[in-house]
Amino acid sequence: MKFFVDTADVAAITELNALGMVDGVTTNPSLILKSGRDILEVTKEICGIVSGPVSAEVVSLTADEMIAEGRKLAKIASNIAVKVPLTWDGLKACKVLSGEGNMVNVTLCFSPNQALLAAKAGATFISPFIGRLDDINLDGLELIADIRQIYDNYGFETQILAASIRTPNHVAECARIGADVMTAPPEVIRKLASHPLTDAGLTQFMKDWAKTGQKIL
Ligand code: G3P
Repeated sequence: MKFFVDTADVAAITELNALGMVDGVTTNPSLILKSGRDILEVTKEICGIVSGPVSAEVVSLTADEMIAEGRKLAKIASNIAVKVPLTWDGLKACKVLSGEGNMVNVTLCFSPNQALLAAKAGATFISPFIGRLDDINLDGLELIADIRQIYDNYGFETQILAASIRTPNHVAECARIGADVMTAPPEVIRKLASHPLTDAGLTQFMKDWAKTGQKIL
């Protein structure tokens, strides 16, 4: 499973990228707001750090405007994936922009039927939102499994980009189900390394090592 980082925080992207943890980046208008940066500037900077796909989201509601914005965003760098919402106009924009050879990420997906439409419109990525379904007492991971089955049934090449990931368990379950990509905030990716038994075991090793009186260096 590929790891994308869901942020426009350049410092966090740089740190995780140095560890080989970043196969791509996803941003959205809320993350641009959080960064306090200009969308074109920060997206260009991110594209210079990461060689994989960098999603940049359109902010209009009509297909024609989304297409115009998408074409502008795609000019930032060759690794831009234009992100469009899963609306009828977003699907129209997806069809046109993917037909022009751009990577397209269709976002705000909350149902298997929406994912089916995105694949038929030529999406490179479909972004089902796990955490936001869990928030309203539905099962976000069940959606990932449903889309996996549907895409496999028909050989759709659209990659499942599991989004709105909030917990390490979401990550492990997405990998088990077979999501192609997961995108998570930097703090969730860092949490993947944590285990209380690792901490307890290390404490014990340090205590015992001190008692040996030895040094390696
Ligand atoms: O990139 C979109 C998605 O990952 C948002 O997550 O936590 O705001 O639902 P969240």
